[in-house]
Amino acid sequence: MTSKLTIANWKMNGNLEQIRNLLSQLFQDTAQIAHSREKVVICPPYCYQSFVIGRLAEFGWQLGGQDCSRYTSGAYTGEISAEMLKVIGCRYVLVGHSERRQHHHESNALVRQKMQQALKAGLTPVLCIGETLQEREAGLTLKIIENQLYESMAEVNTEQEFVVAYEPVWAIGTGRVAGIQDITQVHQHIKSLLVQSNPLFESIPVLYGGSVNGQNAREILSLGEVDGVLVGGASLKADEFTTIIAAAAQTNEKINL
Ligand code: 13P
Repeated sequence: MTSKLTIANWKMNGNLEQIRNLLSQLFQDTAQIAHSREKVVICPPYCYQSFVIGRLAEFGWQLGGQDCSRYTSGAYTGEISAEMLKVIGCRYVLVGHSERRQHHHESNALVRQKMQQALKAGLTPVLCIGETLQEREAGLTLKIIENQLYESMAEVNTEQEFVVAYEPVWAIGTGRVAGIQDITQVHQHIKSLLVQSNPLFESIPVLYGGSVNGQNAREILSLGEVDGVLVGGASLKADEFTTIIAAAAQTNEKINL
């Protein structure tokens, strides 16, 4: 088992003043926690990335993008390429987040192209998948997960890395976290699908996201099938995010014993 990743997805939140304060507070509060620094990733809005990378560099945390274009370059107003993210200092990029799938009608085929671009640029894509409430209630969760994973996963060569994030749509921003058994079942399913697709994918990290907070992080992170968390709302609150980092650090300490 590898050390657990903690990724903050700030989405479209915060102004410069709030971000400055949040980072200062986080650095201060987590300074005494013996956590693996490269295992904490912050995904700010594009316009704050230069500012954030300057602060993260001194602390050893990683920078991530929230999305990237399916194109390499060209006349695509408003788009940001994976290569641009790499140049500014990103190591990770989210692709296929359910908010992109929902509000921007991103299909699996499109997400696949984005993941391909990310890999080509040398970034580690975090491929997000998850079922809606209707799909869960119709008993389709495992099938939807399989379709999304296989249809949106780009071809990956042996030197490239990627991460999968299971984010049930109904758990995002709702305060309704998936049950421990549900998380375990879906993560086991994702891991077995990955291995079926390529035995080398046995070590691909599978993260959980959806209403993770300071109260539930420890239990979720203690699961052997969960290789980290992708955190939205709680990553904007210094005390909550510090507790989540502390929970990951404690789990990692046990793993590394
Ligand atoms: P919340 O943690 O706010 O539910 O958001 C989860 C998410 O979408 C992270 O990408």
